[in-house]
Amino acid sequence: MSTPILSVEHLTKRFGGLIAVNDISFNVNRGQVVSIVGPNGAGKTTLFNLITGIAKPDAGEVSFDGQNITGIAPHKLASMGVGRTFQNIRLFQNLNALENVMIGRVAKTQSNVFDALACTSRDRRERIEMVESAEALLDWVGVGANRFRMPSELPYGDQRRVEIARALALNPKLLILDEPTAGMVSREAHDVIDLIHRLKDAGVTLMLIEHNMNVVMNTSDHVVVISFGQKISEGTPAEIRSDERVIEAYLGVDEDAAQVAPQTVVTA
Ligand SMILES: Nc1ncnc2c1ncn2[C@@H]1O[C@H](COP(=O)(O)OP(=O)(O)OP(=O)(O)O)[C@@H](O)[C@H]1O
Ligand SMILES: [Mg+2]
Repeated sequence: MSTPILSVEHLTKRFGGLIAVNDISFNVNRGQVVSIVGPNGAGKTTLFNLITGIAKPDAGEVSFDGQNITGIAPHKLASMGVGRTFQNIRLFQNLNALENVMIGRVAKTQSNVFDALACTSRDRRERIEMVESAEALLDWVGVGANRFRMPSELPYGDQRRVEIARALALNPKLLILDEPTAGMVSREAHDVIDLIHRLKDAGVTLMLIEHNMNVVMNTSDHVVVISFGQKISEGTPAEIRSDERVIEAYLGVDEDAAQVAPQTVVTA
């Protein structure tokens, strides 16, 4: 079996007396779609923040593509090939959809300040290439017709798709999506299932946090279940669905109830 593209070992993060992520380990293999599920406040976003360098772990290690990336700065990680989207959409509100995606591409350009000032052919070529590739990405995620609209003018689903296009502009080896269907109506969520399948077919390895079990069950090769900061189970969607611990902690509860489950403080 090939080495995993991402390896998470014994990650732990405390916020005061709360252990938000408690000794979590798992692997993501190349080409897989891996979902992280668990009730509200389980530690999913914190786990993603530890993996993507936004928060520093108190213990544990993260390796990407064979390199130790624990605590590495997010922009360095982006240039190594890890793209992500956020639970609360983070688009630049004063830039249109196309410009938001072009921003994702800037990290890849070779031109320097001299090229830009002197308007060299390299700079011109790169600018044209940046616009064309951003347009192609927006077409690919299905927002091409709205490329000149500002984020606030776009439906929620389109805003998420623009964020995904921006992450794809870096040509990531691993794409991390935090609740890609949050706030979507079911038809839009269905489109996300289709998009995840197309990303996988395009060779992108995906890791997602998702509350919508329909999305999880229809897209994932592997599911990691966390509750109160701890990994309580992992396996294929079928294995997870029949795991008593998972049913008790998560699947057994009504999905609406799971969304509003109170957060419980685990004291150290
Ligand atoms: N910066 C922080 N400071 C203090 N506590 C935090 C911080 N970030 C998260 N927490 C707490 O850590 C726990 C895990 O939060 P986290 O956002 O990772 O959960 P989640 O699984 O992503 O939840 P949701 O499904 O609601 O997005 C929660 O109890 C949360 O209140
Ligand atoms: Mg979260």
